[in-house]
Amino acid sequence: MKKWLLLLMTVGLATALAACGTSSNNSNASGDDKTLVMATSADYPPFESKDGDKIVGFDVDLAKALAKKNGYKLEIQDMDFASLVSALKTNKADIVLAGMTPTEKRKKQVDFSDIYYNATNMLVTKKDSGIQSEKDLQNKTVGAQLGSIQLDDANAMKDKYHLKVEDRNKISDLVQEIKAGRFDAAIIEDKVAAGYLKKEKDFQAFQLNSSNEGSAIAFKKNSDLTAKFNQSLKEMKKNGELDQLIEKWFVKEDK
Ligand code: ARG
Repeated sequence: MKKWLLLLMTVGLATALAACGTSSNNSNASGDDKTLVMATSADYPPFESKDGDKIVGFDVDLAKALAKKNGYKLEIQDMDFASLVSALKTNKADIVLAGMTPTEKRKKQVDFSDIYYNATNMLVTKKDSGIQSEKDLQNKTVGAQLGSIQLDDANAMKDKYHLKVEDRNKISDLVQEIKAGRFDAAIIEDKVAAGYLKKEKDFQAFQLNSSNEGSAIAFKKNSDLTAKFNQSLKEMKKNGELDQLIEKWFVKEDK
């Protein structure tokens, strides 16, 4: 008798759960078809960083504007950069804005918008490191963020210069390691490097000869959002809204 009851309850529960899954006929990570979850790695000022409990930055403002134009509210999830692509694939997020560069490898797993901001890669060192150009990297320890294209760059130079390549989850960790003398250098994007250079007076940086297409929004494969957001992005490029955000986060910050 008891067994029967248990079975009945289990079947009931399973049916209820299944109904739950299908009744909300949207695939948004939030479970609410009006709210999008944006995943980011908030270690990347001025793109995204923490201000107390809040996550702020260029990417946040851009995502909010794009979401609003398309009738969505935005929820932000902070995680390690290396987890962002899989967050989309496992429906933990609907969009990723994290200064992320579209690469062939990533394009196999997620879709990208058009580029919204260009970037170059810098080699950041201490002023007294004796490193003035790429050639001076012989036998040096070079760091980059885990999962980033900068880490790919470091690995690509590894054999040529007999580098020791190290990865860390956060950009701030790379900076700490340089300060502590454990890394001779780190590869960091220009705008982000510029922010640290202003704070760390004994740091210097020079541009690396490596390719970096800039930042784009990442979406789940075949998401309807990609076309919509691209359209809105085009409008924002045309009507000056994007320039205003660039002025707010990249130009004013430089002064
Ligand atoms: N643009 C580089 C890449 O896509 C680095 C981005 C790092 N972003 C961050 N929020 N930490 O690999």
